[in-house]
Amino acid sequence: MKRIIIAIDGHSSSGKSTMAKDLAKEIGYIYIDTGAMYRAVTLYALQHGYFSGETIKEDALRQALPSIHIAFRLNPQTGRPDTYLNGVNVERDIRSMEVSDKVSLVAALKFVRQAMVAQQQEMGKAKGIVMDGRDIGTTVFPDAELKLFVTASPEVRARRRLDELKAKGENTTYEEVLANVKKRDYIDSTRQESPLRKAPDAIVLDNSEMTIAEQKAWLLEIVRQRIQDIQV
Ligand code: DC
Repeated sequence: MKRIIIAIDGHSSSGKSTMAKDLAKEIGYIYIDTGAMYRAVTLYALQHGYFSGETIKEDALRQALPSIHIAFRLNPQTGRPDTYLNGVNVERDIRSMEVSDKVSLVAALKFVRQAMVAQQQEMGKAKGIVMDGRDIGTTVFPDAELKLFVTASPEVRARRRLDELKAKGENTTYEEVLANVKKRDYIDSTRQESPLRKAPDAIVLDNSEMTIAEQKAWLLEIVRQRIQDIQV
């Protein structure tokens, strides 16, 4: 069976990561969460005092970049990959509000993007991957065999994110999360470097009114069809 690249882009908290993870598991592909890579760089920058308010010390980060090593290792308990920063499991820390609040600033830096994109292209060389992010179908793998663009209303996305944060014991409000979702949408889609855009050949999925099970069934059908079309 020919293996393909599945690129899943879309807005933050649109549920694309859950969808991509489940899909990869179901079809035996490797899952790469590129947002986690930008989050890990942001965590490093926070740990090393590179932020003062909304400003980042770009030179310091540029110099440190070669010593930032990001890897994914399967967690046998969850069956999903955890993110490691210089050998330390940071899966939990990179999802904090503190990182969420700063990550768009880091993801807008050209030198950071160039380094991450090069690593992502390397990871996808052997195909058989599901990669999710913002620029996968447009910049990282413009020739991906299947591209999806996932979205939902900001309110639905804020509610989902709030539930996730609460489940992890983070103390935050709906208003705060909604503001963060809207702020990230704005920065992600208006930045100079690889702004969040739908690739012309991507299939759009608005899952505001869909359950995870409905979404899964819809997606599996599309993937099976695409893999079948490619064999002939
Ligand atoms: O998907 P996420 O919320 O974990 O992504 C975190 C941030 O990283 C988000 O602000 C967008 C950015 N990002 C990006 O610019 N390009 C990617 N390929 C993935 C994420």
